Amino acid sequence: MRKLKVLTIFGTRPEAIKMAPLVQELKRNEFFHCEVAVTAQHRQMLDQVLSLFDVVPDYDLDIMTDRQTLFDITARALTGLKDVLEKSRPDVVLVHGDTTTTFIGALAAFYMHIKVGHVEAGLRTFNKWLPFPEEMNRKLTGSLADLHFSPTDTSRENLLREGVNPDSIFVTGNTVIDALKTTVKKDFIFSTDILNRIDYKKKKVVLVTAHRRENLGEPLKDICRGLLDMVEKNPEVVIVYPVHLNPAVRDVAYSILGGHDRIILLPPLDTDEMHNIMARCYMVMTDSGGLQEEAPSLGKPVLVLRNETERPEAVRAGTVKVVGTDRHRICEEATKLITNKDEYDRMANAVNPYGDGFASKRIAQSLMYFFGMTLQKPEEFVSI
Ligand code: UD1
Ligand code: UDP
Repeated sequence: MRKLKVLTIFGTRPEAIKMAPLVQELKRNEFFHCEVAVTAQHRQMLDQVLSLFDVVPDYDLDIMTDRQTLFDITARALTGLKDVLEKSRPDVVLVHGDTTTTFIGALAAFYMHIKVGHVEAGLRTFNKWLPFPEEMNRKLTGSLADLHFSPTDTSRENLLREGVNPDSIFVTGNTVIDALKTTVKKDFIFSTDILNRIDYKKKKVVLVTAHRRENLGEPLKDICRGLLDMVEKNPEVVIVYPVHLNPAVRDVAYSILGGHDRIILLPPLDTDEMHNIMARCYMVMTDSGGLQEEAPSLGKPVLVLRNETERPEAVRAGTVKVVGTDRHRICEEATKLITNKDEYDRMANAVNPYGDGFASKRIAQSLMYFFGMTLQKPEEFVSI
């Protein structure tokens, strides 16, 4: 039996978290020969995920440099991937989402006439600059892709409006929910011991992350000042903020928030630690994409520290609110959720618009269908 050779290409923490369940699924399935190439656009934060999910790359370009520019990542990944593709010669390349590794992985495959499958396809803000450069990365990747794995019906609709062939789109749910289902445990003990010592009943733990390129500089400073105001105003609040390794983020976060007795700044958490602190926290404040998908499924309200979101499903469901980066608005909106029980209860509903834990299986089935290995069309994910 000839197996379908799939090369997955990824490079950053969120791609790795969302591709790991798919890699595991393809490796378990006898119809596939799955290889993994990492650009290592992230190094330590990627390695944390690879080790948690037992994924061993077949190719590792190790491109990360300190304070890298988009030009650095683009040039180094593209050149490196040429050799990888020449060696691997896959039937199809799979990329994920919207990072520069994603776009360059798709571009490199296109240059070699290799088919491209785009996982988490069709998310849009319709604003070229927000998030930057991710909105363009995912649009360009979508233009290069032969197969589109849309997490939701909304993302499929976005692609249809752009004229994408409906037969090439499969609605699968988001693989991040597959990952989440394996990590969250009721009796989880944190290896970051300070998280075991928090009294989650007495304190209101606000989980924070922020790293977006368009927020670097003044917007990030404003976010941090808003968080500080919020902690000062609400004595029952404890902030847990695992800080991104980007020095442009670390410098600001530690200088404004460091040293406060109710603000716990941490290095990036392993993903199982992150998912379990999310499951125990009171609410989430973030500019991350992934957290906007994870927190609603755990019933945690999310305030989004951005001006636009490409994930409107949970906003519609009422568990996510986009509040921007203004210092006063951040403090005000957070305080409302901390002090007003009705407001909190309205947002704290467990909803799963993004997946049911079977996205990787659907992607594997869709690949088999697309490549003529089965006549059975995969069932699509329908959000409840
Ligand atoms: C990148 C992605 C963004 C994604 C984010 C997830 C692009 C253009 N941006 O963000 O879409 O949401 O990753 O976190 O693809 N660093 C380390 N160790 C690490 C990771 C980063 O030291 O493991 C430091 C390095 O100094 C590096 C810097 O952080 O130069 C920025 O990393 P980079 O991948 O360029 O981050 P972003 O573009 O902000
Ligand atoms: N995450 C993690 N450790 C952390 C912070 C985040 O494992 O210290 C996880 C988080 O649960 C989510 C993903 O990383 O699954 C989000 O990645 P990131 O915020 O880097 O990127 P984005 O989602 O914005 O692309």
